[in-house]
Amino acid sequence: AYDATPFLPDGGDLAAYRRAAADCHGCPLYENATQTVFGQGDGSARVVLVGEQPGDQEDRQGEPFVGPAGRLLDKALTDAGIDRGTAYVTNAVKHFKFTVVPERGKRRIHKAPSLREMGACKPWLRAELELIRPDVVVALGATAAKSLLGGSFRVSKDRGSLLPLPGSEDERYVVATVHPSAILRADDREAAYAGLVSDLKVAARALN
Ligand code: URA
Ligand code: SF4
Repeated sequence: AYDATPFLPDGGDLAAYRRAAADCHGCPLYENATQTVFGQGDGSARVVLVGEQPGDQEDRQGEPFVGPAGRLLDKALTDAGIDRGTAYVTNAVKHFKFTVVPERGKRRIHKAPSLREMGACKPWLRAELELIRPDVVVALGATAAKSLLGGSFRVSKDRGSLLPLPGSEDERYVVATVHPSAILRADDREAAYAGLVSDLKVAARALN
């Protein structure tokens, strides 16, 4: 079965996990991607933002949310009163999944990860959350929400609510919202953006 577990280190800090993740072959996604894109940010962050998977730019640069979706996310965090410098940003799946479309100048088009790939990669996300132990986790989009809250979770129905973070004994929360990329594609971008900021403010209020 697809599973990252055999590639996890026996212990150590975030840096140790990041180094080990670089060699993960837990599912086939490493084969065509450039590199593992592990989470980025402060190990003592009180808010962790979880996206779907790296995009084209992230795959090339090796860091999460550095492309167009990342720029929108940065702006939304600022507008919600969350300092990206105090946040940790990561993805549910650590390798870029794509198809190449020859008639579009060989552009690499994002493909949604499968449930098997999400499950395979979950041990890395679990380890990040256990090491950082943030007050609140923000699930950006359906993939992150399903990975954190289960396959039957619906962002459309349950976004913007402060929910207990599954698997944590003490008071930790998770808030699901839309993915920043969905805002870039929305018909009414302004309304979609306001919704994201409003959900991020729910997370901001769970801090301190
Ligand atoms: N979209 C994501 O979900 N994650 C990234 O890191 C970039 C784009
Ligand atoms: Fe490992 Fe995740 Fe990459 Fe699959 S996507 S190879 S499980 S790091």
